[in-house]
Amino acid sequence: MGSLEDYAAAVAATRARLSEHPGLKDLVRYATLAANGHNTQPWRFDLAKDRIAILPDFARRTPVVDPDDHHLFASLGCAGENLALSATARGRGGVLRFEPGGAGSLVFEFSGGPAERSALFEAIPKRQSTRADYDGRPVAVPDLEALAAAARVPGVDLVLATDRRQIERVLELVAAGNSAQIADPAFVRELKAWLRFNPREALQMGDGLFSAASGNPNLPTWLGGLMFDRVFRVATENDKYARQLRSSAGVAIFVSEQDDKDHWVRAGRACQRFALQATALGIKHAFINQPVEVAALRPQFASLVGTPGRRPDIVMRFGYGPTLPFSPRRPPEAVMTSVPEGVA
Ligand SMILES: Cc1cc2nc3c(=O)[nH]c(=O)nc-3n(C[C@H](O)[C@H](O)[C@H](O)COP(=O)(O)O)c2cc1C
Repeated sequence: MGSLEDYAAAVAATRARLSEHPGLKDLVRYATLAANGHNTQPWRFDLAKDRIAILPDFARRTPVVDPDDHHLFASLGCAGENLALSATARGRGGVLRFEPGGAGSLVFEFSGGPAERSALFEAIPKRQSTRADYDGRPVAVPDLEALAAAARVPGVDLVLATDRRQIERVLELVAAGNSAQIADPAFVRELKAWLRFNPREALQMGDGLFSAASGNPNLPTWLGGLMFDRVFRVATENDKYARQLRSSAGVAIFVSEQDDKDHWVRAGRACQRFALQATALGIKHAFINQPVEVAALRPQFASLVGTPGRRPDIVMRFGYGPTLPFSPRRPPEAVMTSVPEGVA
């Protein structure tokens, strides 16, 4: 199965501190540490001297949970935000914009400027989705304000729910969404294909949902598959989400102004910034997207969070909890296209 020690060493290398004068390849490495749906890493980086384009990799779609590629483009936004923060921290600031041409891509154009390190940049290698029970402690108001300020991206509204009754309403929709998803064999099959049951598998593939990173035991691949079939049930999963949400300090909901790729990317940028600010403050986060993934639940969820008629993009819980093993990443070489001579 491979050892957790070897796994941790390999992951530490992936997350090594960005050098003071990084090449483009190292900037790409930092970009790939971003959150992304099912950890499919659905991106390709196209490098040139004066810009990096982040292109969708449709071979890594998750068509069941994300039929219109909403999460895929949000994931590009997460990576773009990491890239912009990293380049800016190293004196290579620039502009990040969505290019609608073709399938749509995200372009970061370097313009230079002073090196501006930020708490968000420093948090990039430490951020993780922490799918554990938290300790129930509330987040103090100044920290909530810092989270809201960090997540400010034009075109995206953030709704913060910290009231217990409202969190219970969110939980009802998470449970309803979870029940619908688990009842769908295609959803379960797709999820299972991205599970990595032990360190060896996680390292070999460099992607997917590593069991230890979700607080689950390591198992041989064959046994992991069998166990998953036996234990992945609506009741146990809904109980788990109830515990996780009730032990969280609050829920952050990102709602963009329009339902198009540009705004899905913006929502991804906002949620990545929120997650980085949380990490900088010692606050954990995890995604609970069932109410936005199950399309039939979206109108009810939008009304609940006070944005009727709009499509909420991303749902995240936050609070104080343990640090779990990090999730794997593929090396930058595996996600770069066309590297002109001397560029990377
Ligand atoms: C758009 C988007 C949707 C996501 N949806 C979920 C989700 O519904 N449930 C979940 O547990 N994690 C979800 N995640 C988190 C990813 O699984 C996670 O980012 C990925 O496995 C990499 O792990 P890391 O965030 O710890 O680096 C989502 C992430 C993104 C960007």
